[in-house]
Amino acid sequence: MAELGHEVIGIDVDAAKIESLTRGEPTFFEPGLPEILRSAIATGRLTFSTRMSDVAGASVHFLAVGTPQQRGSYAADLTYVDAAVEGLIPFLADGDLVVGKSTVPVGTAERLAGLVTAGSGAQLAWNPEFLREGFAVKDTISPDRLVYGLPPGDAGVRAKAQLDEVYATALAKDTPLVTTDYATAELVKVSANAFLATKISFINAMAEIAEVTGADVTQLADAIGFDGRIGRRFLGAGVGFGGGCLPKDIRAFTARAEELGRGESVAFLKEVDKINLRRRDRVVNLVVDALGGEPYEKRVAVLGLAFKPFSDDIRDSPALDVAVRLHGLGAAVTATDPEAAANARRVHPQLTIADSLGDALRDAEVVVLVTEWPEFRGLQPADVEPFTAGRTIIDGRNSLDPVVWRAAGWTYVGLGRP
Ligand code: UDX
Repeated sequence: MAELGHEVIGIDVDAAKIESLTRGEPTFFEPGLPEILRSAIATGRLTFSTRMSDVAGASVHFLAVGTPQQRGSYAADLTYVDAAVEGLIPFLADGDLVVGKSTVPVGTAERLAGLVTAGSGAQLAWNPEFLREGFAVKDTISPDRLVYGLPPGDAGVRAKAQLDEVYATALAKDTPLVTTDYATAELVKVSANAFLATKISFINAMAEIAEVTGADVTQLADAIGFDGRIGRRFLGAGVGFGGGCLPKDIRAFTARAEELGRGESVAFLKEVDKINLRRRDRVVNLVVDALGGEPYEKRVAVLGLAFKPFSDDIRDSPALDVAVRLHGLGAAVTATDPEAAANARRVHPQLTIADSLGDALRDAEVVVLVTEWPEFRGLQPADVEPFTAGRTIIDGRNSLDPVVWRAAGWTYVGLGRP
C-alpha cells in the first residue's frame, strides 16, 4: 500500500515482529519483500507500531490477521479477528472504512459490521485476499481481480469510493472488479481455494488410478489441460497440497456448511482432503518399499521442507510431514530446504536438517524430492551420485525426467507415472 503511494501504519501485537519490520527486515521469506519494504520505509510513508491508538488519523483500516484451524475442530478460529476489531473500534472516526482481508466463515462480515457501526461512525467492507506465497508482492501490486463485499445503500456507495481510491493504480490497469454483498465476498474466497484444492485432488485421484493401470498422470494432465475449459495449471500430481490456506480453508468451509444445515453441499471436500492426505502416505510407503520394508536406521535424504517452493512456510507442509513420518519409522532422515530449514528446526528439533544439499545426500540409500525448488528440479544424476550410497529417487513432485535418471542407472519412482 505504501508502494502504491498511500501513507501506511502497520499494527501487530507481536513487539518482536514490529521491531524487525521497523528495521526493514521481513519476519518471513518472500521474494521481493525485503526490497519493497526498505524502499517504502525510506519514503517515510510506512511505519509500524504495537499501539492500536496509533491508527487514529487513518481513514481505511485493513484487518489482515490469521484465521487458523481451531484446536479440536475443523472450524476457523476467529479469536484474532474479533480481538482486532474490538481493539480498533475505540479509535475509529466517523466516515472511516474497516476492510476485512482475513479468510472468514460466511456470515462473519455481517456480524462484524454490526459491531463496527454500533461502536463508531465507521463502515465495513469485505475485500478477500488472493495472493499466493512466493508471488505475494506481484499479486498485491497487480492483483488478477478485486472483490469488494459492500454494505447496502449509501454506505456501500461511500465504501466503494474509498476502496476505489485505495486501489486506483490497479483499477487504472483495468483489473477486473466484482462488487457484491458481504456473504458473496466471503464465499468467493473460500470457494476459490476449495476449487483449487479440488483440482489438485482430482489429478491426484487420477494418479492413484494411473498407479494401478500403468498410465502416466503427467501426460494425462497435459492432454486434458489443453482443453481451455480445464486448463493445465493446478494439475500437478504429487505429494499434494499444504500450507496455511488450502487445507484449513476446505475444513472451515465444511464446518460452516454443516452449521448452516448444508453439509451435503460440500461433503465432497472431505474426499478432497482424504485424497490429499493419502498422497503423503503413498510417498512414505514408496520410501519404505524402496528400503525393502525395513526403514530402521536406513539413510534417507529428504529434499524440501516448505509446503511449496519460494516460501519458508512449513504450515501443514506435505514435505515436512513426510520427513517427520520417516523419522518416526526409525529411518535416519536428513532433510534440507533452501529457506525453510530454520522454521523446521524450531518446530521439529528431533529432525536432522542439513544446510547443504551435499550434506543431506551423504550416504543416502534413498532420495525423496518433496518440494520442487528450482535447485532440486534441476538436479542431474551426476550432481547426486558423489554423495549417495544408493541409486533410488522418489520424485514426490513429478519434477524430474525419468528417462535421464533411468539412463544413469537409477531406480526412478514418480507419483502416478510408470
Ligand atoms: C493459496 C491460493 O492459491 C491463494 O490464491 C490464496 O490467497 C492463498 O492460498 P498458497 O497457499 O500460497 O495460495 O499456495 P498455492 O500456490 O495455492 O499452493 C498450495 C499447495 O498446493 C502447495 O502445497 C502446492 O505445492 C500444492 N500444489 C499446487 C500441488 O500439489 N499441485 C499443483 O498443481 C499446484
